[in-house]
Amino acid sequence: VDADLGRAAGLVREVPDFPEPGVLFRDIGPVLADREAFHSVVDALGRVHAFDVVVGIEARGFLLGAAVAHAHGTGFVGLRKPGKLPVVADRVDYALEYGTAALELPADALIAGQQVLVVDDVLATGGTLAAARQLVDKAGAESVGASLVLELSQLGGRRTVPDWDVRTLFTV
Ligand code: PRP
Ligand code: HPA
Repeated sequence: VDADLGRAAGLVREVPDFPEPGVLFRDIGPVLADREAFHSVVDALGRVHAFDVVVGIEARGFLLGAAVAHAHGTGFVGLRKPGKLPVVADRVDYALEYGTAALELPADALIAGQQVLVVDDVLATGGTLAAARQLVDKAGAESVGASLVLELSQLGGRRTVPDWDVRTLFTV
């Protein structure tokens, strides 16, 4: 299984100048497309302490998070970009390098006291993950940790979520 995980790491594609000049984008698409790599990554993401619901972040966190939830027999709650959810329970705005972004939690999704694992693909500046944690905490659920595929360590995203068990499978 760990050999598969190593192979999966090699499948992350580096795309220069996307989405803008000067940015080296890490694309996990080829990892999802490969049967063994996808399996080993989903397996590893869920190999954490007990949780009873998965929260995934739009859009690639949906693909990974739903697979983890299915494998563990839990439900799945998706945090969405503004304007997508018909009934919104809560919203958190956060700063990007340029401008702002927001995530919304759907109504009647999280239950107070639930143990939540947050799943996403990439930890960059950490703004997205910090916003997700706030939404989970404000809902009265317990954010037991986060699992992500790839950590871009130079951006220091971990610092935005201190005192939280954030696990990443690969680090660059
Ligand atoms: C990417 C990635 C994370 C987030 C990480 O999503 O999937 O969710 O950025 O960045 P941060 O740590 O700096 O907050 P993106 O906004 O590209 O959305 P998408 O998955 O819908 O393309
Ligand atoms: N890949 C995917 N998502 C991202 C990246 C990246 O390189 N940087 C910030 N969000």
